[in-house]
Amino acid sequence: MKVPEIVLQGVTKRFGSTVAVDNLSARIHDKEFFVVVGPTGCGKTTLLRLLAGLIDPDQGEILFDGVKMNGVPPRERGVRMVFQGQDYALYPHLEVYHPQRWSNLSFPLRLQGKRVKGIGERVQRVVRRLGIPAEWFPRRPRELSEGQKQKVALGRATVLTPKVFLLDEPLSHLDPPARAKARGEIRRLHAELGTTTVYVTHDLAEAFILGDRVAVMRAGKFLQVGTAKEIRDHPADAFVAEFVGAYREGLRQAFGA
Ligand SMILES: Nc1ncnc2c1ncn2[C@@H]1O[C@H](COP(=O)(O)OP(=O)(O)O)[C@@H](O)[C@H]1O
Ligand SMILES: [Mg+2]
Repeated sequence: MKVPEIVLQGVTKRFGSTVAVDNLSARIHDKEFFVVVGPTGCGKTTLLRLLAGLIDPDQGEILFDGVKMNGVPPRERGVRMVFQGQDYALYPHLEVYHPQRWSNLSFPLRLQGKRVKGIGERVQRVVRRLGIPAEWFPRRPRELSEGQKQKVALGRATVLTPKVFLLDEPLSHLDPPARAKARGEIRRLHAELGTTTVYVTHDLAEAFILGDRVAVMRAGKFLQVGTAKEIRDHPADAFVAEFVGAYREGLRQAFGA
């Protein structure tokens, strides 16, 4: 499947006097696992919403393989987004899966007018891929644990294979052992789907473990984009150096260095 390279050119998004994304330029390679890391409020969710087409920039351009996406609605971008916990924007009143009814896993397929047989096949594929047992099917989101909800959200986002996969701090509500396991699952999911993936987190250790490349974001700008090693060994400025310093212990555990 052809998936796009994403280019941002001078993208700015304001909310009143807040500049959430500030004249941001970047290139995200096709099939890359690109991680954006930065403190709360630095503009990560806004960036994902811009890529998804849920909002449009005030200035600048977003290009998928050179084609301008400004004004193109979300459903025409081939983009899927997993929203920030705790509810992951799951439909609270719908079951995980029901073959004949609207349900969380079948929702995007039904919306596309897919037939029952096609829906069943695609749902089976994602539940196998993610290890979602049939016991969960009749449950509503409030009857699921954080880890279970997160898996259902990943499943709903991938029943229609996206070209661009956006994940907004999907693991932040999991406890550490579950988080470590889920990271491996998400990396594998990215490889299987073959998408261009943009993953957002405030956890630098997580960013370094997951990302092909990592962007350190602060106040709407990328301070540095590079591999974990480049950022760790050659922080671009004092803020990045301090951010890396604050994670020294976590990084040592993760990388043994
Ligand atoms: N819909 C909105 N209306 C007003 N301000 C917003 C809105 N969305 C985000 N902001 C502001 O933009 C900045 C960036 O927010 P956000 O993208 O959610 O950051 P992050 O995801 O990194 O925590 C924050 O100052 C936030 O308060
Ligand atoms: Mg956010």
